Amino acid sequence: ISARLIVDRDFAIADLDRRLFGTFVEHMGRCVYTGIYEPDHPSADEDGFRQDVLDLTRELGPTIVRYPGGNFMSGYNWEDGVGPKDQRPVRLDLAWYSTETNQFGTNEFMRWADKAGVEPMFGVNLGTRGPDEARHFVEYCNHPGGTALSDLRREHGVEKPHDIKFWCLGNEMDGPWQICRKTPQEYGRIALETAKVMRQVDPTITLAACGSSQWDMPTYGEWEHTVLDHCFDEVDFISLHTYFTNRYDSTEEFFGNIEQTDQFIKEIVAVADGVAARKHSRKRIMLSFDEWNVWYKARSIDDLRKPGWPQAPRLIEEVYNFEDALVNGGALIVMMNNCDRVKTACLAQLVNVIGPIMTEPGGAAWRQTIFYPFAQASQFAHGRVLRPVIDSPSYSAKSFAEIPYLCASVVDDETTGQSVIFALNRHLTEEMELRIELRGLGRERQITQALELHHTNMKATNTREAPETVTPGFNHDVRADGETIIARLKPGSWNVIVTQ
Ligand code: AHR
Repeated sequence: ISARLIVDRDFAIADLDRRLFGTFVEHMGRCVYTGIYEPDHPSADEDGFRQDVLDLTRELGPTIVRYPGGNFMSGYNWEDGVGPKDQRPVRLDLAWYSTETNQFGTNEFMRWADKAGVEPMFGVNLGTRGPDEARHFVEYCNHPGGTALSDLRREHGVEKPHDIKFWCLGNEMDGPWQICRKTPQEYGRIALETAKVMRQVDPTITLAACGSSQWDMPTYGEWEHTVLDHCFDEVDFISLHTYFTNRYDSTEEFFGNIEQTDQFIKEIVAVADGVAARKHSRKRIMLSFDEWNVWYKARSIDDLRKPGWPQAPRLIEEVYNFEDALVNGGALIVMMNNCDRVKTACLAQLVNVIGPIMTEPGGAAWRQTIFYPFAQASQFAHGRVLRPVIDSPSYSAKSFAEIPYLCASVVDDETTGQSVIFALNRHLTEEMELRIELRGLGRERQITQALELHHTNMKATNTREAPETVTPGFNHDVRADGETIIARLKPGSWNVIVTQ
């Protein structure tokens, strides 16, 4: 098949916010314990952080990392996780039926974030708790000193404020599984009042209200409308969560998730702007896609809950295959192409729990298939996203009516002159002859790198025994002809073409 991708330097969607390449660390399963933190591991540093995981995290390249949950957040007492470790309480975690030792908490996470070179995105508990604990948490973290809580932080060895800028007002408060779930009215009110007191403590913070926990929730749309109707003036973001499933066990159908993600974003923008219109406001609420990933294989009750309140059990340790990496690549393309409104996003999660990185306790760490599109997007997407005109044959599916075989985004960095094309060939049996017209970006483009992720087996996985089954390679079938790039893309492949 053949397809065309056309961009013009004068038609930009927006500057790409690098916080689009975020991930997520929750106190769940083995994400924290034996994931990022394992004091007895041979590679552990003086803080108990696994160096092998830190190295892989730096290679993955997240810019912002959400913490401490997830559903865990809705039952968490932040005070339990600070101060001398031998005095921290051991608690039941009702979200994941686990025992939480609290040996890792806010100050440990901030130290880890510093070593990983990432910005923190924190969340407050609006399940079992409310505005009072939230304002105290901000005071502990961000106030310089001279008050009980800021001085407590200093007693805990953290002299300077953490200055945490991005805060989530609870997590998935629409979900029946959520600890102390709320109606949209209840949540809208509590989000508003919590936002007000948090901002009184620190006026420089950015706040995100919870949106729907999935686009097919029964209250979808109505939830965002009611919540924003209450807290519009006090919040900056509304969150989106989505987990892609392969319900027909068909790659073609599975790709429908990519189109659905685009529709999801556009619908939430419409709802948020509808609230703005009713309020005669020019303010625009931005989108925080703060949980997204493929997740359907490890979803049984046994994956979600182990008997006997274990510590750091193996929960939702999804083993990703090649087609999962393609779907995630497509989701990244969609988010980049909506970068005028999607300003932050978090691949959920980072390690072991639906993670791009896997570990064994005391043992190895390796990259899952989904590691690669994320790492490459984070490495190469700098600058502004150009509006893509896509001329491609398409197919129809049950999961989405019309799916173009080509899914693509172009990110152009005016400061370096580098333009990068991210492209998915969704045709599973035919190569794609792709002509890319980079109008006005310089008459003689050079290809500096052409990378591809491809495997003949959609179900191929990276495991501890065979960690390099699915790895990126080079596409040698790419050439420049003036401002046109001509590339041959393998069937079912993710591609990154770097031009200068
Ligand atoms: O990421 C796993 C869980 O999925 C999170 O805790 C929750 O927010 C979502 O339902």
